[in-house]
Amino acid sequence: MEELKQKILQLKKEKNAVILAHYYQEFEIQDVADYVGDSLGLSQVAAEVEADIILFAGVHFMAETAKILNPNKKVILPDLNAGCSLADSCPPEEFAKFKEKYPEHLVVTYVNCSAEIKSMTDIVCTSSNALKIINSIPKEQPIIFAPDKNLGKYIIGETGREMVLWDGACVVHEAFSLEKLINLCKEHPDAKIVAHPESETHILKTAHYIGSTAGMIEFVKKDPNQKFIIATEAGILHKMSQAVPEKTLIPAPAHEDNTCACSECMYMKVNTLQKVYDCLLNETPEIHVPKEIREKALVPIERMLALSK
Ligand code: 13P
Ligand code: SF4
Repeated sequence: MEELKQKILQLKKEKNAVILAHYYQEFEIQDVADYVGDSLGLSQVAAEVEADIILFAGVHFMAETAKILNPNKKVILPDLNAGCSLADSCPPEEFAKFKEKYPEHLVVTYVNCSAEIKSMTDIVCTSSNALKIINSIPKEQPIIFAPDKNLGKYIIGETGREMVLWDGACVVHEAFSLEKLINLCKEHPDAKIVAHPESETHILKTAHYIGSTAGMIEFVKKDPNQKFIIATEAGILHKMSQAVPEKTLIPAPAHEDNTCACSECMYMKVNTLQKVYDCLLNETPEIHVPKEIREKALVPIERMLALSK
């Protein structure tokens, strides 16, 4: 493993490449990355990359967003099967028909969607800026929010805005079990719950803090509590435990029928350290976004970045 890590670091230098990784990636991949962050941070960094190659250790929509923001760079993804259930839940043809039903509505989409969906969008948002983006829209303006209904419901609850929601969800965040969470809280009454807003409303109601992956890490750093239950993908525990080595972090439990009791994203986890090496060596699979879609999709992403400064 150490040898492979060294080979990746060497190859990265030789090829003038950077590795951008999401917090849900395997720990070893996070360790060879130049930057590890949430969706917003990764987009902001991707837009400014000067190196020739961006190896995106994350899922497809994240690599696509990097390509849209920095089209002259070669963007590579270790495995093209690194998809996302939320992005898949919103097929472009169906979404176009849905949009037609609401001609007066502004379209806000969560970044977890394809480039084609972004090309049909007015403003993109991520979990870290969703409330800010919605609050920036005049009150009388009706809104479609897609594709995550759970994040959508959370935004409605926080802002009081009525929004038409697309019926999509994240398989990982919908797998948390409320019953098991309540039992865990009884065992650890001194623990605070931090949750990602892709989680269902009944989980979010229990949370002391709700935010993006980066926001969750910041919260456990700043909050004086010593024990936290973490309701998001288990990969976050790597950077989080490095940030607060003295604190106790407990992953929120998933339903019995979930493939992984600790809530791993099967899409994020198709990337492996070996695939990162192969991808960098062969400079493939490469991400391509057709020019017409790229140019249209750039507009709502740039609006988001301007509102996030
Ligand atoms: P963050 O932007 O909070 O990192 O979320 C990305 C994601 O895919 C959550 O499931
Ligand atoms: Fe998509 Fe959910 Fe995986 Fe995030 S955790 S990449 S939303 S499937």
